[in-house]
Amino acid sequence: MREMDEMHRDLINPFPWYEKMRREKPVFYDPDYGLVNVFKYADVKRVLGNFNEFSSQFGKAFNPAGGPISESIINLDPPRHTKLRNIVSRVFTPRAIEKMEPNIREIAESLMKGKKGKEVDIVKSFTSPLPITVIATLLGIPLEDMDKFKLWSDNIVGGSQKDYENFPVMMKEMISYFQNLMVEKEKNPDDSLIYSVINAEVDGEKLSMMESLGFFILLLVAGNETTTNLISNALLTMDDNEGSYESLRGDINLIPPALEEVLRYRSPVQSIYRVAREDTEIQGVSVKEGSVLVPWIGSANRDEGIFPDADRFIMDRKENRHIAFGEGIHYCLGAPLARLESKIALEYMTENFRSYDVLRNRPMVPQNSTIVYGFKELWVSLN
Ligand code: HEM
Repeated sequence: MREMDEMHRDLINPFPWYEKMRREKPVFYDPDYGLVNVFKYADVKRVLGNFNEFSSQFGKAFNPAGGPISESIINLDPPRHTKLRNIVSRVFTPRAIEKMEPNIREIAESLMKGKKGKEVDIVKSFTSPLPITVIATLLGIPLEDMDKFKLWSDNIVGGSQKDYENFPVMMKEMISYFQNLMVEKEKNPDDSLIYSVINAEVDGEKLSMMESLGFFILLLVAGNETTTNLISNALLTMDDNEGSYESLRGDINLIPPALEEVLRYRSPVQSIYRVAREDTEIQGVSVKEGSVLVPWIGSANRDEGIFPDADRFIMDRKENRHIAFGEGIHYCLGAPLARLESKIALEYMTENFRSYDVLRNRPMVPQNSTIVYGFKELWVSLN
């Protein structure tokens, strides 16, 4: 069987395959896909963190016509990347994000109240709507448009066949919605992220419409499903590891380190892309200019050379230097927000439910992706 097919075989447990690749082919050029796959911690860090060698500007290579996402910071290199990121970085500092805590608690409460004693798809009821509602609030989406916004967000990252058919229509609708909202906010200033982005200047110039849109859409793509997956992955992992939920109930201060371990153990983003800017080599394997690389974060975070007992979930692991939020200049802008949302989600759970069980006889549907790791559907009973 070909190497990459092995990966696609087990989306819930790709970890034995990573282990094999780290051991046998830590840098693997796959001629079928034309990709250079990188599996070891130090090499993944190098590829992610070194923008002089490895560019993030592959958006246009995949989508020559451009479009909002290829104009967004995740697909840009310096100097433009630095300038655009500076505009929004202050909105996402831990101190700025802290202010959202009461609001996030209210959202968690509104989603979960009355659920005790019930069997629910926790993704649908809790882990998916929570981050979507938080982002909508941050952007300044009016309450009455919330359902529409949720639908777009779900579909952008959803990815079933049917969603793809409707995708261009939906994108058009969403883009025109954002354009109207930007005009509206210009007339009626508020403290929303949309207002601050449309009024920001880089080198004396405002952002183009495409750049502003790219930023808003990026937040949906980068921020929602990842956070959903982190919370769902935490619930599954604790269910697998007896006693861990009880420990968190006993001391909620254990929640943040436990979440860091979930980020390492079941990283919501498993892989990313980069493009080689010049001929180079990694571990003696030559990489030609223009080659597309896949640094596997999910594998780096299980590298036994860095993490003792890497395949064990150790809730209070010391020196947890995982790279689940990336490395270098593209380090996740939303990390403080993702950490806060997932902490509140677990606090809410431990304060309100004595226990929960993942229902293994119900569908446990993984995300159909080798890039993100998590669940589309995960049923639990709440006690
Ligand atoms: C557990 C949840 C999350 C994980 C695991 C995660 C992971 C990542 C990773 C690995 C990157 C680096 C991409 C690269 O190097 O190309 C990244 C970038 C980014 N993330 Fe997150 N993310 C999460 C949540 C969020 C949230 C909540 C937001 C915003 C609300 C967000 C916004 C962004 C943005 C804007 C970037 C691009 C930064 C840049 O290019 O400078 N993420 N994220």
